[in-house]
Amino acid sequence: MELLEEKIRTEGCVKGQGILKVDSFLNHQLDVALFEEMGKAFAKRFAGEGVNKILTIESSGIAIATSTARYFDYCPVVFGKKVVSLNLDNEIYSSDVYSYTKQQAYKIMVSKKYINKNDRILIIDDFLANGKAVDALINVINQAGATLVGVGIAIEKGFQEGGALLRQQGIALESLAIVDEMSVEKGIIFRDQLEKK
Ligand code: G4P
Ligand code: NA
Ligand code: NA
Repeated sequence: MELLEEKIRTEGCVKGQGILKVDSFLNHQLDVALFEEMGKAFAKRFAGEGVNKILTIESSGIAIATSTARYFDYCPVVFGKKVVSLNLDNEIYSSDVYSYTKQQAYKIMVSKKYINKNDRILIIDDFLANGKAVDALINVINQAGATLVGVGIAIEKGFQEGGALLRQQGIALESLAIVDEMSVEKGIIFRDQLEKK
């Protein structure tokens, strides 16, 4: 998505350890007009698939998910809550996540009230790196017996394995910008600069 790539080019900041800072429009201050365009792009990609619910994870995924829901007939957005530990509870689905970026394990939980087997779910998130957060959301969908329609990501880091692993499983993955290389010296290189889609 040209608009998002332009925003990343002009405002993104490459940090060491393969981290792309995008606080000015995605992770701290939010560019609402850009979010609307991202929502539209996901809607175009997943139109006609009967999506009736969007699943994301707190916190940065939520705003993108709500912008996207507008284009799926204002369907509900459910977000996985991050918890450090939890008591055994029959009323929730939970799944473990290991965050490489934060070098920390945590759990996400979703109440059984908000996902059921008739749901056709689109997962939305801001970043895809190793894909552990998305894996945990898919695990929750499977526990509920719901249907995963696909995964929509704002920024995929193509040099980490998450995107390849999802595509290998045949999961419909739409990343609006794929960063294949980035360094302080060379800047940011997008996938569509290498192989025009
Ligand atoms: P993974 O899910 O793909 O395995 O990624 P990982 O756990 O390593 O990512 C941890 C957090 O960092 C996630 O946000 C993820 O969205 C974000 N993240 C990963 N790589 C980058 C990056 O290069 N730049 C930025 N800005 N964020 C990145 P989170 O901890 O769930 O926090 P939140 O921001 O959603 O609250
Ligand atoms: Na996130
Ligand atoms: Na994030």
